[in-house]
Amino acid sequence: MVETRSNIQTFYASTSQPLPIILDGDPGHDDAIAWVLARSRPELRILCVTSVCGNQTIEKTTYNAGRIMALLGMDVPLAMGLPKPLFRDPIIADTVHGKTGLDGPELPEPMKSPVACSAAELMAQCLKESDEPVVIVPTGPLTNVGALLLLYPELKSKIRHISLMGGGIARGNWTPAAEFNILVDPDAAKIVFESGIPITMAGLDVTERALVYPEDFERIRRVGNHVASVVAGWLEFFYHFHQSLGYPGAPVHDAVAVTALIRPEILTGEDLYVQVETKGVFCRGATVGDLNKVSGKPPNAYCLKDINRNAFVDLLVEAVTYYG
Ligand code: RIB
Ligand code: CA
Repeated sequence: MVETRSNIQTFYASTSQPLPIILDGDPGHDDAIAWVLARSRPELRILCVTSVCGNQTIEKTTYNAGRIMALLGMDVPLAMGLPKPLFRDPIIADTVHGKTGLDGPELPEPMKSPVACSAAELMAQCLKESDEPVVIVPTGPLTNVGALLLLYPELKSKIRHISLMGGGIARGNWTPAAEFNILVDPDAAKIVFESGIPITMAGLDVTERALVYPEDFERIRRVGNHVASVVAGWLEFFYHFHQSLGYPGAPVHDAVAVTALIRPEILTGEDLYVQVETKGVFCRGATVGDLNKVSGKPPNAYCLKDINRNAFVDLLVEAVTYYG
């Protein structure tokens, strides 16, 4: 059965101008590929980039963000996020992304230093200065977005939509119940999911279907420019961890949050009422979806469930071709 498009989705069809977006991530190989995709699209206008601690420490994810921006010629402000989750100790994913957080291909040094203000302050500045509401694309823990909403509640109306990678209705990946981004900062995630801002949730239900196979790495490399070669190298590194778990390809989780903004038609999902568990022994960080509509609460997220994998890979090939 084809899922009916939710009312949250209609906003995508209503825009003719490029969508102003903020990229917030913890690069991270799949964050990096998501940013390669975002930078290549005329439908999107990147206002700024903010780093968050997640896959690696905030120092390393910020340095990686600067290197990716240099590689892509992304000349917008970069701000460093908070040094740790709102109320908890950091968890890093060095087993997945390596000691640097972006192991693999050589990258240029950052073109410039991060701005002096915090990630939340830079986000707030971009929201205030934008003529129209902005889409935030978080692909790491939601610490910075949570801080933004706590510090600047009056700017909520300037956030048009949040298209995030995080959570999983059916399962977790860092614990049986919780996906990494939400687990690292469940308190920030709770703030975001309770904010009333329209959310597209690219959770594991869809992102573990966004698999790029080794033959796709070669297809990307054959595009023949430098960015294509770097993306193929990132995919190869990212695949090593997942191959050891039996995955047939690399799940490029974060790129799905960007895909939802530019090609929603290759995705299916459903509106759900989602709660974030911030306590509990076994379930902290779980995103609990009201699949049977028993809560009586209105949906707060459009939860993606499936993706046309071939179309997704075509999108990544098209993206790297842009850098020719
Ligand atoms: O669980 C996958 C998520 O955790 C991705 O965003 C990946 O980059 C890591 O941050
Ligand atoms: Ca990430």
